[in-house]
Amino acid sequence: MNAVPKLSYGPLPLPTRWLLSPLAGYTNLPFRRVVRALGGLGLATTDLVNSRALVEGSEKTLELTATCPEDTPLAVQIFGAEPKYLCEAARRLEGAGHASVDINMGCPVGKVTKTGSGASLMCRREETIELVEAVVRSVSIPVTVKMRLGWDDQNITAPAFARAFEEVGVAAVAIHGRTRAQGFSGQVNRDGIRQVVEAVRKIPVIGNGDVLSVADAEVMLRETGCAGVSIGRGALANPWIFRQLHQWEQTGRSDPPGNFDDRLGLLRQQFGYVIELRGADRAVSFFRKMAHWYLKAMRVAPHLRHKTQSARNVDEFFAVLAEIEERGPAVGSRTDQPEMTVAVPSGPNAHW
Ligand SMILES: Cc1cc2nc3c(=O)[nH]c(=O)nc-3n(C[C@H](O)[C@H](O)[C@H](O)COP(=O)(O)O)c2cc1C
Repeated sequence: MNAVPKLSYGPLPLPTRWLLSPLAGYTNLPFRRVVRALGGLGLATTDLVNSRALVEGSEKTLELTATCPEDTPLAVQIFGAEPKYLCEAARRLEGAGHASVDINMGCPVGKVTKTGSGASLMCRREETIELVEAVVRSVSIPVTVKMRLGWDDQNITAPAFARAFEEVGVAAVAIHGRTRAQGFSGQVNRDGIRQVVEAVRKIPVIGNGDVLSVADAEVMLRETGCAGVSIGRGALANPWIFRQLHQWEQTGRSDPPGNFDDRLGLLRQQFGYVIELRGADRAVSFFRKMAHWYLKAMRVAPHLRHKTQSARNVDEFFAVLAEIEERGPAVGSRTDQPEMTVAVPSGPNAHW
């Protein structure tokens, strides 16, 4: 096999070119720890963090930026529209020892875009470039930008922005190959990502969108020429995907993802990390959304899934897991591959 291409964000070398996309509410520290332990991950990014709340020291924000020694390399994603908060947030993150800062320019959610942040930054060219430059100048760690292709089909601004960002010192850009207007509908536009790759001179462009398997990642690399691939929902459906990709590029083949029992093991491990992070009292409510994804993929019978959602404390939650372990999947066998098709959040723009 040919040598595996290396990926770095400026001076920050990444162990692989397979990255975890931020998924607000899911890619928290407990999930990242589980994925990292499985292997193959090049970089993880936190959920989006409000830059102003970070500067003002909100407790929720501190939890979002929580990390631990094995959770590396990590980028913290910030959003906002005011340079003073974005720059100060970046400085504080650097001061706290974080390796990289990512600016969110892709969030389509109304509550974010109506404040001028997220994807709406893509509608204001000069102001946005100045903003990004100001953040880059505030810190010496690499600053990256995650964006969509543009606001809508009439405004595909990602290639021009990527080029301008490179000129002001951005270390890499990640492109979700859809417009803000598309939300999560339709196919990811790999041609659009390729145009971004062609627009920059040498910074890495990370391709993102709809990668659920090694085969999908291979198509993303081949059709776009991107330097790395970032995976969000595919990693929830299959936390082994980074290990599979790493094995594939090293040897041309990869082990199958975990089966029912392996996933149940991961779920328990992750729940343990949630208890560590939040304390037993707040762990169950925090973990509900995540448990739902795991158990759907594992084809657990609906009434048992429902029981995990109504568990009131850690003991009740563990008791349902024991029942789930005993019953196995409602469809197929314990050694079958779990369900890899992940439901997309509803509504093109109202939700992620
Ligand atoms: C539930 C959910 C939460 C998301 N949260 C964020 C976020 O905080 N920041 C961000 O830049 N993108 C966020 N995204 C977008 C993803 O990072 C990614 O760009 C998108 O899901 C496409 O990639 P995928 O098909 O691999 O999931 C979110 C997507 C989903 C489904």
